[in-house]
Amino acid sequence: MKLITDVKKMQSICNDLRSTKKTIGFVPTMGALHQGHITLIEAARQNNDIVIVSIFVNPIQFGPKEDFAQYPRNLKADLEICERLRVDFVFHPEERDMYPKDFDTFVEVPQFSKKLCGRFRPSHFRGVTTIVVKLFNIIKPSIAYFGQKDYQQALIIQKMVRDLNYDIRIEMLPIVRDSKGLALSSRNQYLSEDEYKASLNLSQSLNQAKDLINNGELDGLKIIEYIITHIKKEPLIKIEYVEVCDPKTLMPIKKIEDEALIAIAARVGRARLIDNILIRR
Ligand code: PAF
Repeated sequence: MKLITDVKKMQSICNDLRSTKKTIGFVPTMGALHQGHITLIEAARQNNDIVIVSIFVNPIQFGPKEDFAQYPRNLKADLEICERLRVDFVFHPEERDMYPKDFDTFVEVPQFSKKLCGRFRPSHFRGVTTIVVKLFNIIKPSIAYFGQKDYQQALIIQKMVRDLNYDIRIEMLPIVRDSKGLALSSRNQYLSEDEYKASLNLSQSLNQAKDLINNGELDGLKIIEYIITHIKKEPLIKIEYVEVCDPKTLMPIKKIEDEALIAIAARVGRARLIDNILIRR
């Protein structure tokens, strides 16, 4: 496994790999790797000649009052995981090389980016799409892997790839949860023991909403009300939103027909947590 920090060097390695018709599986990350990332890397390993993982805590996707400075960073542990999973290259660029002082070009998918998390993190997805385009231009992957926990992010990237004609397949893999049901996230490290226990309520309410739907409740607003009532029993959770929406457009759904995305965002202590469930009938 090679650790590459130089942008031009990474780009030139990838150009050479593509010219020899090797397929590149790419897993973009901000490090603090957990089992969710591991699942993505394993899928990339199984389906591609070459696997590249990027580790870069992207400053422009954090709002001014968000946790950029505190975001967990543990390069040594991350490199060990990548080595064990037979990753070929880890790309770990410097912030000053990715965003030189005069950097002034952004990529935006405005409609999808305004919805759900975008209402609470107005510049977040613009930061994500900008860094992902930069990484795609450097790595030129055949397939890029994203987790369903960040469903909105994966949908926005799929849309961006279609709109900008990138010849890249975007794979969205299911949410990985811990043994108690909490969706894995690097930010779970911020939770105290009590906050962790409270957070379990999020996936529990999603599962109960799914049961409700299976028992015939198809009214979007009633499902939202049910989830909010359930979550409010946990005073440590501060809800940002609960939405039942169309998984293709993120538009709210009044009556569930064939499919729906139920998405939640909440603050628990210092952590902002998101979770979702896809309903297919
Ligand atoms: O999902 C993440 O970890 C980040 O948003 C990503 C895709 C690596 C871009 O910084």
